[in-house]
Order: sequence, then C-alpha cells, then structure tokens
Amino acid sequence: MHSAMDPAARSRTYGGFLHLEELLSLQESPSGHHDEMLFFTAHQIYELWFKILLHELERARDAMLADDVPWALYCLRRVRVIERVLCEQIDVLATISPGSFQQFRGGLYSSSGLQSAQFREIEFLSGLKDPAHLRRDDLTDAERERLTRRLAEPALTEAFDMLRVRRGSPDLAEILRSEVIDDDLGRLAEALIDHDEGFSQWRYRHVRMVERIIGGRDGTGGSSGVGYLRSTLAKRFFEELWSVRGRL
Ligand code: HEM
Repeated sequence: MHSAMDPAARSRTYGGFLHLEELLSLQESPSGHHDEMLFFTAHQIYELWFKILLHELERARDAMLADDVPWALYCLRRVRVIERVLCEQIDVLATISPGSFQQFRGGLYSSSGLQSAQFREIEFLSGLKDPAHLRRDDLTDAERERLTRRLAEPALTEAFDMLRVRRGSPDLAEILRSEVIDDDLGRLAEALIDHDEGFSQWRYRHVRMVERIIGGRDGTGGSSGVGYLRSTLAKRFFEELWSVRGRL
C-alpha cells in the first residue's frame, strides 16, 4: 500500500507545481452538452495565453523605457509566435457546428468575450487606450483597477516614442528606407508592426469563425455580432509605423 504523499513533497511534483488538481477541476459544462466543454476550456486557454502576452508586452515596454532594445526584441519575437498559436486555435473552435452551438448558446446569457478584461489590457498596453471600456458596469473591482492602471501607465507606443526622442528623434522613414534594416530602432519598429499584424490576424480569424457559427445573429454580449466585429478590423496599435511607409 502506498502511503499518502506529504504536502511538501507533493508541491514539488509535476502536478504540484502546476496545481493540476485545481486547474483540471475548473473546466465545467453546465448544460452537459458535448461541445460546451470545449467552448469554455478554449476560452480559458486563451485567457492563459493573454496572461503570458501581457507578461511579455510589459517586459518589452519596460525594456524600451530602459533603453534595452535587445530585451524588447526578445519578448516581441515571442509575442508574435504566441499570436500565431492564438490564430491556429481558432480552427479548433470552428469545428463546433452551428447547430451544436445553438443548443447551449442560450445558457451563456449575456456573457461574451467582449467582457474579457485581459483582452482590453493587451489593447491598452499596446497603445489603443479607449477609456469607454472602463464605463462598463460588468467589470469586477479588480478588473476596473487593472484597466485603470493600464490606462495610466505608458503603452508600447509611448515607450517607443520616448526611446526615439532619447535617441535624438531620427526620421523613421530614413531608418526604414534601407534595404536590410540593421538599425536598433528600425528592428524594433518592425517587431512592433509584427505584433500589430499578429493581433489583427486574430481579429480576422475570430470574426470569420463567428460568422461560420452564428451567421448574422446579434452577439450574446449585446452587439450586432459579426457587424460589430468587422468594425474592429480597422483597429491599429501603431498608426505612425503604418503611415510612415507611404513616405519611404
Ligand atoms: C464559438 C465560438 C465563439 C463565438 C460564436 C464568438 C462570438 C463573439 C461575438 C458575437 C462577439 C461580439 C460581441 C458580442 O458578444 O456581442 C465576440 C467578441 C469577442 N470574442 Fe468571441 N466568440 C467565440 C469564441 C471566442 C474565443 C475562444 C475567444 C477567446 C478569448 C473570444 C474572444 C472574444 C473577444 C476578446 C471579443 C471582443 C472583441 C472586441 O471587442 O474587439 N471569442 N465573440
């Protein structure tokens, strides 16, 4: 007979470090419908990746503020790879048939990805600071506090601008004109635009998947659904990095 492992030893095992018992008890399916488990779990997985994205973006921002371009590039490279993974995962959700989704959709009430505070934090931290998101009445106190902090702290856009000023405000067009970009700021500008594109690609993949599953229906969060999501495709973090291309 095995004796029960003592808690200190347990905390140093694979399951202990990962809190697997708690983690694997958090996937529920209130309706018991087959696809609902995937639907909720996929959202949890996204939220975990959002947490890592915030961790990396924050470090990239801080590195820029500290004139440490290599560290910023190190984090932004990972951000881009994670965004690719986020896009790929959309394919899993697209395996939910429209008919299946309708069977448990009613039980979602008015919950929606629209309420994801971490998603807004990523937008705020990247430079899209829309204070209207703070006016929602469905935020918890902790979520409101986090978003308020993100609104006040420097975004990647601001950190990049400050770094440029400290480097004597070189003309970005001049830097990006070279055939092979070797300049520190130029490489950073390209890494930031990669992040912008990576996030936009997720928006695009999400809206196409949503259309495939619910067509022209309104969203559970109260928006017009696909119509609203299409309007977000125009969002950009680094306007200047896009517009400068017209001046090269
Ligand atoms: C069957 C799968 C899904 C469907 C049918 C769906 C549907 C929708 C709809 C209709 C909206 C518009 C807002 C509203 O509810 O009125 C929305 C927004 C959103 N969804 Fe999804 N979604 C799905 C999966 C996901 C997943 C896995 C995530 C990952 C976190 C996600 C994140 C978001 C976010 C962040 C928004 C807000 C986007 C913005 O405001 O720019 N969704 N979704």
